[in-house]
Amino acid sequence: MATLDLDTSVVENAYARWAPIYDAVCGPVMLKGRRAAAAAARTVGGKILEVGVGTGLSFDDYDASTEITGIDLSAPMLDKARAKMASGRYPWVASVQQMDAHAMEFADATFDCVVAQFVITLVENPEQVLSECHRVVKPGGRIILVNHLYSETGLAAAVERWAAVKTRAMGLRPEFPFARLQAWSQSNSDSILVERRKVAPFGIYTLVTFERMALAA
Ligand SMILES: C[S@@+](CC[C@H](N)C(=O)[O-])C[C@H]1O[C@@H](n2cnc3c(N)ncnc32)[C@H](O)[C@@H]1O
Repeated sequence: MATLDLDTSVVENAYARWAPIYDAVCGPVMLKGRRAAAAAARTVGGKILEVGVGTGLSFDDYDASTEITGIDLSAPMLDKARAKMASGRYPWVASVQQMDAHAMEFADATFDCVVAQFVITLVENPEQVLSECHRVVKPGGRIILVNHLYSETGLAAAVERWAAVKTRAMGLRPEFPFARLQAWSQSNSDSILVERRKVAPFGIYTLVTFERMALAA
């Protein structure tokens, strides 16, 4: 199914409005998905990039075995993340920077792992963002995504198709299918799908892991 386009400016405006209430509204409901992604990232370890780090709700899910860099489009969301960093509780968070995930300012192969929690379905051009994630992750490194993905069949799919039009101005894309992520990976000869699994609560989120293969010289 075709997805309606999302404009980056719509997303930026939406998150300026979300920032003051984001932790209260989206903290608990997305907690298990966020934790599952961070746990998967910790098994890779090292330098981790959080794309769309938001207010830094995931900072609690990492530890000193990792070094976290966060980027986000939204200055109001990053203000909240910086306030968390200022508490001194997250020495593993090296920096957060305002940056568009479609055009990252990092050199190729900078990170051991790139994580995007509840982000890939919101960006204007998901394939371009995936390619940027792939570029900045080291060969042998991983891209870990967690999101609600389109149910594809049954009542849930019908509701998601209906909600697609209603929620676009809120910066949401509930009808985003796994097939689009898979097609991106299949079009990259050095990307491989490592894992696709449902996570709590009730399997409404999907965790997807791609690896940038280390090609033999
Ligand atoms: C649903 S929030 C998720 C925040 C955080 N990852 C979490 O789990 O709480 C989506 C975040 O992605 C950010 N975002 C959306 N489009 C972006 C882009 N093109 N570049 C960087 N960040 C983006 C938004 O500003 C927002 O903070």
